[in-house]
Amino acid sequence: MQAIAQLRRMLTESRKSLYDRINRLKKEKNVVVLAHYYMSPELQLSTAEGGCADFLGDSLGLSLEAQKTNAENIMFCGVRFMAETALIVSPDKKVFMPDVSSGCSLASSISAKDIIELRKKYPGLPVMGYINTYAETKAELDICCTSRNAVSIAGSLDSDKIIFVPDIFMGQNLKEAISKKYNKDLILWNGTCEVHEQFRNETMNVSDDADVEMLMHWEVPGDTAREQLKIRKGVVGSTGDILNYVKNSNAKKFYLASECDLGESLKKSNADKEFITPCIKCPYMKQNTLEKLLASLESIGTDTEDQYRITLDAHIIERARIPVLKMLQFN
Ligand code: 13P
Ligand code: SF4
Repeated sequence: MQAIAQLRRMLTESRKSLYDRINRLKKEKNVVVLAHYYMSPELQLSTAEGGCADFLGDSLGLSLEAQKTNAENIMFCGVRFMAETALIVSPDKKVFMPDVSSGCSLASSISAKDIIELRKKYPGLPVMGYINTYAETKAELDICCTSRNAVSIAGSLDSDKIIFVPDIFMGQNLKEAISKKYNKDLILWNGTCEVHEQFRNETMNVSDDADVEMLMHWEVPGDTAREQLKIRKGVVGSTGDILNYVKNSNAKKFYLASECDLGESLKKSNADKEFITPCIKCPYMKQNTLEKLLASLESIGTDTEDQYRITLDAHIIERARIPVLKMLQFN
């Protein structure tokens, strides 16, 4: 563990001049840097730790930070739908990314037209959409949710049947939780997260050690969560649920069935615990790098800023704000 900490320190020092340039530009151009837990370790590092992130969080935490920031500019280190959400909640700010082309297999699995068709097929049913959707799709939703508030939002809706899009696996897991807690049912769409769908019972090979506890994001297949929780202790839930579970558990060994770099935050705050993971990385999240972050900051206020800036039509922002602001009341 000490060797890892030392290695981390050496790596940070070798990047010091890059961090210095980034932090200078942040001040000069009045920028707040928001980073998701799935960023590479060097982008997760806070300014206090010698890095450049002002806030590290899950999709809900970062949306709330974007809403309340006083900074003129937001630099979003995450994926595009998250940066779009930042603009939706703070339309008077400029939102930038290190790489605006960073997608998401869930967000690209559903369009605004698909929601319109679903409404025709199931008239009168509320449509709850995961934050992992693009702004045009959000504009057609009744309410948005993140992994952290999906259960309470479903519980709050005045209907026994809810359309949930686009993650079929998260939907399977939510369905179980929601039917137990509220006796409600979900109608699902067929999207999947290309990272979490890889956690299959047949291939996971957890450990022979029966004391290993499971940390599974909602986005893993429903039968993975069901089968694993029959044989081991653990949690299926949001990134926030995973972090809380580890903090409150007496176990010493965990299997992480989520994005590999979430392990970085888990290790940092639980140095006495061990995390096993096949280390599956989200290729879209990893499109963000320190070098691209620097280039994006340099562009702000120049004629190349459009390359790094997130823009949306005003009428889409106006319509997408309704389901997103409803969601932010559940935190
Ligand atoms: P969180 O809502 O837990 O941050 O998850 C976002 C995501 O993209 C998970 O794959
Ligand atoms: Fe999308 Fe999955 Fe990557 Fe999250 S981990 S951004 S859901 S592809």
